[in-house]
Amino acid sequence: MALDHGNGSRSLDGRRIVLGVSGGISAYKAIEVCRRLVDAGAHVVPIMTESAERFVGKVTFSALASEPVHTSMWDDWGGPIPHTKLGQQADLILVCPATARVIGSFRAGISDDLLTNSLIATRAPVVICPAMHTEMWENPAIVDNIATLRARGIHIVEPESGRLAGGDIGAGRLATPEVIVAAVRSALDENPLDMSGVKVVVTAGGTREALDPVRFIGNRSTGKQGYAFAQVAAESGADVQLISTVGLPTPSGVGLSTVTTADEMHQATLKAATAADIVIMTAAVADFRPVAPSDTKIKKGDGVPRIELERTIDILADLGSRKPPGQQLVGFAAETNDLIANAERKLNAKGADFIIANDVSAPDTGFGHDTNAVTILARGGVRDSLALASKHDIARAVLTTVMAARDDVN
Ligand code: CTP
Repeated sequence: MALDHGNGSRSLDGRRIVLGVSGGISAYKAIEVCRRLVDAGAHVVPIMTESAERFVGKVTFSALASEPVHTSMWDDWGGPIPHTKLGQQADLILVCPATARVIGSFRAGISDDLLTNSLIATRAPVVICPAMHTEMWENPAIVDNIATLRARGIHIVEPESGRLAGGDIGAGRLATPEVIVAAVRSALDENPLDMSGVKVVVTAGGTREALDPVRFIGNRSTGKQGYAFAQVAAESGADVQLISTVGLPTPSGVGLSTVTTADEMHQATLKAATAADIVIMTAAVADFRPVAPSDTKIKKGDGVPRIELERTIDILADLGSRKPPGQQLVGFAAETNDLIANAERKLNAKGADFIIANDVSAPDTGFGHDTNAVTILARGGVRDSLALASKHDIARAVLTTVMAARDDVN
């Protein structure tokens, strides 16, 4: 089975992509990105900033792209409004690499060169690929700029960790050409996800087990990843049933069942899963519950209580043991250590078709964040890593993979 989340070689025929190259050592990698976009059929319009020209030659981009490189607002363009033309005509603008200056200017709406003018003058999707030293990448001003751009719908291709210019090691290295081209395809919606007629059940949030009428044993899950799955599946045409413990806004067209405890989630999920084509267990289900929750508030004057716990049922394992033919069962593994080994164990033990390994201790991933980074583990040992992206993009990528596996089976 192939894992395909939209990185395939489908054509970008006729798509007009402005490739903005700003001044960083990784500008040389933009040459490979340019070549791949042209090979995929895109019409690539290169813009280089003044400092980019210090790192790579104009001739290289002019030779590889679809037209000569643009560098200035003051060139003779044969028309009166050169600074807006490239942005207005683009189907997408890709900035690769994006320096701190370009990111800051774009966030602030400052148009100090042809690239920032084009960014401000476009209504097309924009993909930004930051690359800089770790200290810069982690500076609160940059963190804030990136968060703001992301909230405005700008696609951010997170830099990788690794060796940087000058021998330092850390986060800030430009993403690989494969990841960047995949982000371009996804931003252009080259591989729209079609889930029409597919019945999907999603569980979301953390269950709560009562200790007494006012206290419970719970966990940090906020349900954001589960709601992202429900929304993306519904927008893609699926018939979606969401079983949730939290009160986030219900995505349009999604059926909602609200539950609290692991037991209630078990009952609701079992019922909904009978007719489901895909079941996605993003919920963080309590593993233990108090044997005898108190009917009245436990009073501290009565001393430190001894609370006996018992195991709850493992919903995913139960679904795995009674899975109808053709159903795709997707579980999550929320881990703080030994991510892949623990996730692999869960894949086998629970009879799931996929386990999405989620390091909930890493920055910007897991509980409460709007972003996530996961590794998809499929039966048969196939693995695929998804770099930091919005929870919606993660949901789209996972659903694309699950749908491809479904097509393989059916
Ligand atoms: N899960 C479940 N029922 C439970 C516990 C977990 O259905 N009682 C599901 C979760 O929804 C998730 C997967 O199993 O899809 C893994 O959950 P996780 O909390 O990561 O692991 P546990 O099974 O609790 O194992 P461990 O305590 O070893 O981490």
